[in-house]
Amino acid sequence: MSERTGVGIVGAQFAGRFHAQIWRTLAEAQVVAIADLSPDACEAFNADYGPMRTYTDLDGLLMDSEVQVVDLCVPNFLHARMAVAAMEAGKHVICEKPFATTLADAELVLKAQQRTGARYFYAEDWIFAPALVRAEQIIKEGGIGRPLFLKGKECHNGSHSPYARTIEYCGGGSMIHVGIHPIGYFYHLMGMPERVTGCCNGGLDGNFIHTDFEGEDWGLAVLHYPGGQRAVVEGNYITSGGMDDRIEVYGSEGVVKVDLTFGSPLSVFSKPGIAYAVEKAEFTQGWTRPAVNENESLGYRDELTHFLSCIRNNSAQVPATTAEAGLAVLRIVDAIYQSNREGRTVSIV
Ligand SMILES: NC(=O)c1ccc[n+]([C@@H]2O[C@H](COP(=O)([O-])OP(=O)(O)OC[C@H]3O[C@@H](n4cnc5c(N)ncnc54)[C@H](O)[C@@H]3O)[C@@H](O)[C@H]2O)c1
Repeated sequence: MSERTGVGIVGAQFAGRFHAQIWRTLAEAQVVAIADLSPDACEAFNADYGPMRTYTDLDGLLMDSEVQVVDLCVPNFLHARMAVAAMEAGKHVICEKPFATTLADAELVLKAQQRTGARYFYAEDWIFAPALVRAEQIIKEGGIGRPLFLKGKECHNGSHSPYARTIEYCGGGSMIHVGIHPIGYFYHLMGMPERVTGCCNGGLDGNFIHTDFEGEDWGLAVLHYPGGQRAVVEGNYITSGGMDDRIEVYGSEGVVKVDLTFGSPLSVFSKPGIAYAVEKAEFTQGWTRPAVNENESLGYRDELTHFLSCIRNNSAQVPATTAEAGLAVLRIVDAIYQSNREGRTVSIV
């Protein structure tokens, strides 16, 4: 395949923008179209990343014959229905997390993928974050012996997206929205847990801070693996000072720790503050650890590069990015919520 692969992004705000920033660095791809409900958002996106065609609904973008890959950067509740429509229109799909907001919707996506034979890529960026790739290599070479206990979290001060505030649009609260990153990465490393124990805030007045969020603003879970290993995963919206993404893996002969967001080689002290330090930092005066390039350090660049290569070369994708994997990760999240509701440990398999 020599011509550039045509990409159509759906969703012109936060995630759509960082995807576009990466696509334009990849010589073998071209963003040929953007779709968003808001014409203003489409125009602003086109001005920043175009020229490209703009659509105010998915249908227009799906009828665009130059769009070969639909890159879904829309609110969670749209992931399943848009992925199904895109695959049925003969497009390949890249979809942001989560795979869907309900297991019933998730099954529909998997069936559509199997029926159409389209390529589907579940975009869990942590799998591609360079520091986490290096941690995985060290673990796999036996550098810390047998992994016994893992800890992982993504925490910040609350999603900026209005769609993240309702369970209907988000699928839950901080666990499905941000805790899903360590869950997806640990699925990649360890496979499926057999049981989970979840503990989450109750949403609205049952939250610590975000009483306007229907879903929880703090969630924690223990994942129990068949080999006896355990993982603790956390997603919270009560963390000030910038997004805090970390993992720790304790093995029989060592330990590996990754600090994805505050592990920057830069330390800055600024009296007036700087334009940007790290995602979700409230202010930047005083000491900060500014990210060098989040598109790279959080894995987005290598993720989209891998997906593009799989499409162009018809080659195998990282297993934890398939539709089956997206569904499996959602099953873990769903079991965490069930465990929290029922106050007991829940079996998954
Ligand atoms: N991997 C990551 O680290 C990461 C980070 C941020 C967001 N995300 C994911 O990306 C997705 C989008 O999040 P965001 O932060 O960009 O949200 P956002 O609210 O900033 O943007 C969503 C955009 O979708 C548009 N939209 C809504 N309904 C639409 C429709 N029917 N058709 C077309 N456009 C529609 C909105 O107008 C808005 O412009 C979410 O699923 C989120 O989980 C992933």
